[in-house]
Amino acid sequence: MSGVSLKAGVIGWPIEHSLSPHLHGFWLDQYKIDGEYLPFAVEPENLDGYLRGLGEQGRRGTNVTLPHKEATLKIVDQVDDIAARVGAVNTVVVQKDGSLLGSNTDGFGFLENLKDHQPNWQASSGPAIVLGAGGAARAILVALQEAGAPEIRLLNRTKERADDLAQEFGSPVKVFAWDDRADILAEVQTLVNTTSLGMKGQVALELDLSHLPTTATVTDIVYTPLETALLKNARARGNPTVDGLGMLLHQARPGFAAWFGIEPEVGEDLRQHVLKAMGV
Ligand code: ATR
Repeated sequence: MSGVSLKAGVIGWPIEHSLSPHLHGFWLDQYKIDGEYLPFAVEPENLDGYLRGLGEQGRRGTNVTLPHKEATLKIVDQVDDIAARVGAVNTVVVQKDGSLLGSNTDGFGFLENLKDHQPNWQASSGPAIVLGAGGAARAILVALQEAGAPEIRLLNRTKERADDLAQEFGSPVKVFAWDDRADILAEVQTLVNTTSLGMKGQVALELDLSHLPTTATVTDIVYTPLETALLKNARARGNPTVDGLGMLLHQARPGFAAWFGIEPEVGEDLRQHVLKAMGV
């Protein structure tokens, strides 16, 4: 027994590269909380047993990362509305009665990151473009819809995946061909890359920004490198840009508050701490 009173953690398979222990650990120190937040490698076949045993292990809950986010949605006793729409859970809280509540805070993290770095940004100011149709895109589509984006132009290399999302999410999502991405930038006020393109070790995202209004906010979920070529090109032509690290930091806030009882703040010191853990 560790003697620690409040316990949470993060599960994935694998889990060793997760930055979550570094960021929750920073907050636990900062707020002098008698708590622990540890990474656990949980094999898919053990997911159900792990989640069901959280309460007995004295844990208040857990974050959930790849590949468990969709499976967790089916295991927990209750899911909140956002997680149900996203189809994935990244935060589990053990309730007073021992039941498990699943939520998805990725979209919250996405919106809070934009508000944090571009306080004047508003989803409602004009059409948005979302590149990609994977799990991250789902969370961001729900967030943009909730925040009042009047139109969301969705593009994906495999168009069928974008069509499926458009059918599921309905208006205001409109699908365009991946190859037309440079031609549909007029009037756009928010541009989001949710693909893995541009990540260290991956192919670059090729996108000619000439038609994008210079007032459009450009953001990337990729944060290695911190400034992707997309963000660099956008910044060079005067667009407001927001890097992806803040989405990771902000998505952690609701879980921390539920498990440890304090609303944590995302500040420059936290960001520097996590960058150091990344080796940047
Ligand atoms: P996640 O669920 O974490 O978002 P994912 O489902 O693997 O991850 O999605 C990755 C996204 O990057 C997808 O939109 C993927 O496009 P496909 O649906 O066509 O696979 C996109 N992506 C990855 N490599 C790409 C490439 N070389 N060119 C264009 N898009 C790419």
